[in-house]
Amino acid sequence: MEFSLQHKDLRSKARAGIITTDHGEIKTPIFMPVGTVASVKGVHQKELREEIDPDIILGNTYHLYLRPKLEVLKAAGGLHKFMGWDRNILTDSGGYQVYSLSANRKIREEGVKFKSHIDGSLHMFTPENVMEIQRTIGADIIMAFDECTPYPCDYEYAKRSMKLTHRWLDRCMAHLEKLPFEYGYEQAFFPIVQGSVYKDLRIQSAEYIAEAGAPGNAIGGLSVGEPAEEMYAMSEAVCDVLPEDKPRYLMGVGTPINILENIALGIDMFDCVMPTRNARNGMLFTAEGTINIKNKKWEADFSPIDPQGTTFVDREYSKAYLRHLFAANEYLGKQIATIHNLGFYLWLVREARERIIQGDFAAWKSKMVKNMDKRL
Ligand code: GUN
Repeated sequence: MEFSLQHKDLRSKARAGIITTDHGEIKTPIFMPVGTVASVKGVHQKELREEIDPDIILGNTYHLYLRPKLEVLKAAGGLHKFMGWDRNILTDSGGYQVYSLSANRKIREEGVKFKSHIDGSLHMFTPENVMEIQRTIGADIIMAFDECTPYPCDYEYAKRSMKLTHRWLDRCMAHLEKLPFEYGYEQAFFPIVQGSVYKDLRIQSAEYIAEAGAPGNAIGGLSVGEPAEEMYAMSEAVCDVLPEDKPRYLMGVGTPINILENIALGIDMFDCVMPTRNARNGMLFTAEGTINIKNKKWEADFSPIDPQGTTFVDREYSKAYLRHLFAANEYLGKQIATIHNLGFYLWLVREARERIIQGDFAAWKSKMVKNMDKRL
């Protein structure tokens, strides 16, 4: 994997760059739609490619390991072939899902014992087997096995957990060296900074992670309930330590406003379930603010879903029609709303990139943040 920085904003720490892998280019800043179980919920790969057009999507080790299971993924020739997606994929390590989804998890030095949320069966993730699992899944970017601390989290726990994440990082890297690529293309490994909301821990963790010399670096443990200002403070402190010539990935973030604020602090990559999950609940993100499409207010509003939107659903369907689909609980409503939201998130990061290159990112960001805060 290679990363080339193309442009740095003069009024903020925003950057525009290009990551190149064996599955093509990823223009940054980028938002990665979440395809947890080898599916971006409600969106065909054709629509994803042609309308939303992301250079990379995300899959989850925890979910794919439990279902369809590794034997199936291996027999398919890896996740790209299994799901019919020939662009980039990143897999999260399970270091987050195992804490948020599984019951009775037990964290030990060795790893995490957990019960499947699907059938209650018992499993164990270790830094070593998670690297093996991610080799078999075959994503282009694979993540370190970490512990994501909850919020709030006391200082002593945050410190102990961060140190465990660092020891696990060493084990991930030592083991990866022994594991050849399974499918003839390379996989880039990203370590993860932790440290909760404590600036000194975040800096210490960022220094440790930078020292690993990986092709890219991630920041975890944020957007777990802390105020946005604390998230920005941690993101800023960490970006100031992480190397400039490697991409920086802020995991699980966030709202369109969070994304623009973090781009301004030097983050290059994002993922979040928010555009897809909120779409299924009838919440639409637009450049002018958010819309609750279930609201009676839209009952006879025959204007397009989003006149400024970039996807076909924005032009072809009215707000009144989409509201009706939600009222009637039709699948199509969720599908249309998901395509709209993902289209909007991808437009937002593409536009941010253009503005960084043109030189008016900071002014554009301020205007967008004000507008997007509104409820329509
Ligand atoms: N997704 C969101 N936050 C995190 C985190 O802290 N760790 C991992 N592995 N994934 C995440």
